[in-house]
Amino acid sequence: MRNKLIAGNWKMQGSLAENSALLQSVSAGAAILPTVSMAVMVPFPYLAQAQSILTGSRCAWGAQDVSEEPSGAFTGEVSVAMLLDMVCLYTIVGHSERRARHAETDARVAAKARAAIEGSIIPIICVGETLAEREAGHTLAVVHRQLDAVLACLGVHRLAQAVLAYEPVWAIGTGRSATPEQAQEVHAALRLRISNADWVVGAGLQILYGGSVKPSNALELMGLPDVDGALVGGASLVADDFMAIGRAAATA
Ligand code: 13P
Repeated sequence: MRNKLIAGNWKMQGSLAENSALLQSVSAGAAILPTVSMAVMVPFPYLAQAQSILTGSRCAWGAQDVSEEPSGAFTGEVSVAMLLDMVCLYTIVGHSERRARHAETDARVAAKARAAIEGSIIPIICVGETLAEREAGHTLAVVHRQLDAVLACLGVHRLAQAVLAYEPVWAIGTGRSATPEQAQEVHAALRLRISNADWVVGAGLQILYGGSVKPSNALELMGLPDVDGALVGGASLVADDFMAIGRAAATA
């Protein structure tokens, strides 16, 4: 039985003043959801604030990206060691917004995942197809290609120290989530591909769904056999909505 993880991705949103109330609400809310893991992925400048407010709570914190390089002349990048300094448990890698805006390749995303794991940070590795790719019938080919790059770089056994997230690009920020059938089909296909390499890793891996998750659709999505939680964008900025998704995960 895999535990459920509800992770908020704040993206480039928040301020010291706004975050304070949100983090306190999430800290209090997580305390009454003992069966669900909760986490927030905050912008780099707010990691210290998240650490300060969430230390000792049942909500973990992490970053939205990390460099694959250990240190050096990489202006604007943030290393695994720096995230460890801020006591991050997780970092997202390969979010579609970074793949699209920063031209991150499958190989680079895989290298980031490997760097995170080697530094004892759990990467939440995002995969997902665009609308054009889905309409062309290429969904599984795209997510398999993205996953295979990670498997080639990490090897299947180190994948056991990661979390996978299926985020169809067309469902992100659009209000239009994948249907339960669409989500389950891709999650099951991802798990099968990993299970074919190592059954134990496949059976144990948490695979999150992301893309317009909200209180109204969370119960249905979280109840799917191969969905082990959610990566939540917009709704993670509203404490009541984020906690409602956490409660849905606890009851699903
Ligand atoms: P939304 O929940 O706002 O659609 O964003 C999903 C996402 O990109 C999480 O990483």
